[in-house]
Amino acid sequence: MELVLDTSNIEAIKDLNSMLTVTGVTTNPTIVTKSGKEIEDLVKAFDEVLSEDQLLFVQAVSTDFEGIMEEARAISKFRPKNSYVKIPVTHDGLRAIKQAKKEGIGVLATAIYTANQAFLAAMNGADYLAPYVNRMDNYGDGVENVKDLIEMLRVNNMDSKVIAASFKNTRQVHELIKAGIQAVTVPEDVVYAMINHPGTQIAVDEFSANWEKAYHRTTLLK
Ligand code: G3P
Repeated sequence: MELVLDTSNIEAIKDLNSMLTVTGVTTNPTIVTKSGKEIEDLVKAFDEVLSEDQLLFVQAVSTDFEGIMEEARAISKFRPKNSYVKIPVTHDGLRAIKQAKKEGIGVLATAIYTANQAFLAAMNGADYLAPYVNRMDNYGDGVENVKDLIEMLRVNNMDSKVIAASFKNTRQVHELIKAGIQAVTVPEDVVYAMINHPGTQIAVDEFSANWEKAYHRTTLLK
């Protein structure tokens, strides 16, 4: 399972990347605006905290076929290795996904609300499919729809990976990991919520206090 961070917060990426096994970082236009940076500068900032082998996903902002393709080609020039262009599954987006794959550009099909949209993007060769789990909950059951998608891809031997996105709580992530999802992209607040538990700190404090009382030092070794 690939864990990807859905954020432009460089400090959070640095912190979580040192602590966890992180496959890469996803952004979308809204996430980029939160950095206050132009995309070229943001990509440089990501490259300072990510290794070359880690993946970077940048979304096209243009909505017409030609504009999406121009941005897709530019994104693969900003970071030639291990970068993917995110393309929403609109009519022009689906055309652009087909074309980008013909040109050998890595593609993540995004803004997916149904398993059918995702499946059709997979048929166009998209490397990753990003269903918006929490937003899908406004129309039905996001987690169940993504489970359907995983099954549709499995029985049809499709290569695209599902990278579920738009998580708002740890339960959504947990249910999809349990269903065998290939990848999740998770904002830092939800990742920290997956890591942190007050009981862990209480246990550590208790061990430290008992140790110090008995040996009058805070380390194992003399
Ligand atoms: O990166 C795309 C996706 O995660 C969107 O999330 O929070 O805007 O629904 P959100």
